[in-house]
Parts: sequence; structure tokens; C-alpha cells
Amino acid sequence: MAKVLCVLYDDPVDGFPTSYARDDLPSIEHYPSGQSLPTPQGVDFTPGHLLGSVSGELGLRRFLESRGHTLVVTSDKDGENSEFDRELPDADVVISQPFWPAYLTAERIARAGKLKLAITAGIGSDHVDLDAAIEHDVTVAEVTYCNSISVAEHVVMMILSLVRDYLPAHQTVLDGGWNIADCVARSYDLEGMHVGTVAAGRIGLAVLRRLQPFDVRLHYTDRHRLPQAVERQLGLTWHASAADMVPACDVVTVNAPLHPETEGLFDDKLIATMKRGAYLINTARARICDRDAIVRALRDGQLAGYAGDVWFPQPAEPGHPWRTMPHHGMTPHISGSSLSAQARYAAGTREILESWLAGTPVRPEYLIVHDGKLAGTGAHSYSTAKDHKE
Ligand code: NAI
Repeated sequence: MAKVLCVLYDDPVDGFPTSYARDDLPSIEHYPSGQSLPTPQGVDFTPGHLLGSVSGELGLRRFLESRGHTLVVTSDKDGENSEFDRELPDADVVISQPFWPAYLTAERIARAGKLKLAITAGIGSDHVDLDAAIEHDVTVAEVTYCNSISVAEHVVMMILSLVRDYLPAHQTVLDGGWNIADCVARSYDLEGMHVGTVAAGRIGLAVLRRLQPFDVRLHYTDRHRLPQAVERQLGLTWHASAADMVPACDVVTVNAPLHPETEGLFDDKLIATMKRGAYLINTARARICDRDAIVRALRDGQLAGYAGDVWFPQPAEPGHPWRTMPHHGMTPHISGSSLSAQARYAAGTREILESWLAGTPVRPEYLIVHDGKLAGTGAHSYSTAKDHKE
């Protein structure tokens, strides 16, 4: 029988919801690539309900306990003697969400003698030390595509918010003010701007598709070039690297995983090559950007705005400089955890558990590490520290 250790974010401060703003979720037949949505044998939750916080339990308790397995759910993941650290040594499976990541460091993996499977209930498994997972033969799987469109929508929202300078104007309303000149002094149209994405995978391509109707000029860089038909359809300009692309762009959006190739990519040097007054939107991972270089660039006007929802570490401390830097539109890490996305990643987590418990293969597109190497989506989208050195 397996012990499943699940780390989720805290319940709402006012308690677990008893009612919701909407009664249902739209029905989605398949993802844009044709990939099917999660296909578990069943679910024990109501789609549209809060599943990602501790009391939501990703809807897994009945499923696991009725089959004799143990489920431990906690939000206590950091610091000395956390519940996560106490429960880890005999856990077979760890489940964690990138929004509230249980950092599975090499040291923790070494102490987790029974660990065989680390599931990311979401997308982005950089909170797991992938080299250590490879070394210890731990399978790492994530629910590929579950929230890619959720994030793409958030990116478009943030691009428009920054370029139009929406948030300060809204604040003016909240404050009882009406100075139009203040509200428009930094407000532009997106139309005609050059917008580029670092990575055009599931999220990056969805962002490009959503932006095309705004009559912008679209650019991308990716280690895998898109099919020519897609480039033509969207009028894309491909660049061999982020360094080649960013000088051409008014808006840059980052949609690559965090791995050794992308860590620290947006540093003082790269940002200095961007157009003065460019906007940078990073919903991928915080450490793709140099934290203090972003603050400097906003203060001296090299960047006109920065938005995103990813921080390091998470949760971000109250004094994190991105909370107070000028011209930012940060949210806590929420873009991939809408109630719509939660229904998909809870179902996908159950699908992965069903396969693993039955000893049948996990869908290849869900795999990041398997059999001691990068596999599936992991082989396509990530590199290991070892690969990067070679
Ligand atoms: P994906 O696997 O479909 O796409 C990743 C793309 O990055 C691939 O096309 C890959 O070729 C490209 N890539 C990898 N290394 C690169 C490099 N060095 N330079 C250029 N391109 C590179 O994944 P998806 O669904 O698009 O997600 C991307 C990332 O977004 C995730 O790994 C995660 O870190 C982040 N994410 C954030 C969420 C949030 O809530 N803020 C939710 C979901 C994902």
C-alpha cells in the first residue's frame, strides 16, 4: 500500500467555500493540439470547486483510502521540522503544486528512501531537483496542458494591463480621484507593437494565437522551430535565441521552463539590449529573470513595466522587492490555478496515480523524468545540469 504525501496551499482565510460565483464550467472537448483532457476512471469532486487548497485535497481522499492507501495533506512545507519533512522519509509518492511548491531538493530526495513518484499537480517541475530524481530513479510527472491556456489568458491580460497602464487607473477610481492626465501619461495602444515570446510551446503558442487579432507583429524563439504553416498563418518571425529576439520587441513574454539553459537569462546585460520602455511579462518561473536586475530596469526606465505571477522562493516574503518596485503588475502565483484549471489538474493527478498504482504506463506527455532520464515532455522541454555542462 502506498503513502501519498500531498502539499497544497492554505484554505481561504474566511474558510473553505460553501458556494461559488458560477454554477458550472464550460465543457472542453480536447486541448488545441488535439491531446485529450485527463481521462481518470472517475473523479470524486465537483469540477469548479476549490481543489488546490488543503481541504480540497485535489479530490483524492476517497479514491486513495478506499483502496487502502494513505493520504497525508499539508501546507506546512518549509522551515525546520515542517510536516512535509517529517512525513517525507516513508512517502512513496509526493504531490505538489507549483503555486505552493514543496521543493524536492537533492538533500530531501536523498532522505526520501521510499520515494518513487513526484507528481506536479500543474505544469513546471523545476521545484524537483531533476538530476537527483534521475540519480535516485524517481519518476517525475506533470499534468501537461492542464493550465497552459489558463496561463496564456493571464499573459494576454497582463500585456494589456501594462501597455494600457490599467492598474494605476483602476487605483485612481478606488481612491476617489479623476485626474485623466495622470491616468494616461503612461498609456499606449498595443496595436502595431512587436511582441515576442521566449518559447512557443503550449503556452507560448497559445499566447501568439491570442495576440494575432490585436494587429501586432509577432516574434518567437524556441529550441524547437514551429511548423512553417503555423509561422505563416500567424506571421511569425523566428529568432535563433532570446538575445537575437529581444532588441526587436516592445513586449517580451517568457514561456519557457526553468532549467539550466534558461536560469538567469534576463540579466542586466540582456535587459540592456531591449528597447527602452519595453515591457516584460514572466509567468514562467521567477529565476529566469535576475530579481535585482528587474528592479533596476524599472527604476531607471529601461523597462516600462514588468508583470507575472512567479516568484522565488514561494511564498514570497513580505519584503520581496517585486512587491514594491515601480510599474509592476505582479500577482501571487495564480495564473495556472483558476477553478477551471484545478478541475483538469486534479483529474490529471488522479489519472497519473491510477496508472502508477496499477503498474501501467503513465502517458508519455505527462512524463518529465522516467527510468533514470528525461522522458516525454521532459526530454522535449528540459535539460539537466549534466546536459548543460556537456
Ligand atoms: P511546453 O513544454 O509545452 O513548452 C515549453 C517550451 O519551451 C518548448 O517548446 C521548449 O522547446 C521551449 N524551450 C525549452 N528550453 C528553451 C530554451 N532554452 N530556449 C527557448 N525555448 C526553450 O510547456 P508549457 O505548457 O508551454 O509551459 C511552459 C512553462 O510555463 C512551464 O514549464 C512552467 O514553468 C510555466 N508555467 C507556469 C504556470 C503558472 O501558473 N504561472 C502554469 C503552467 C506553466
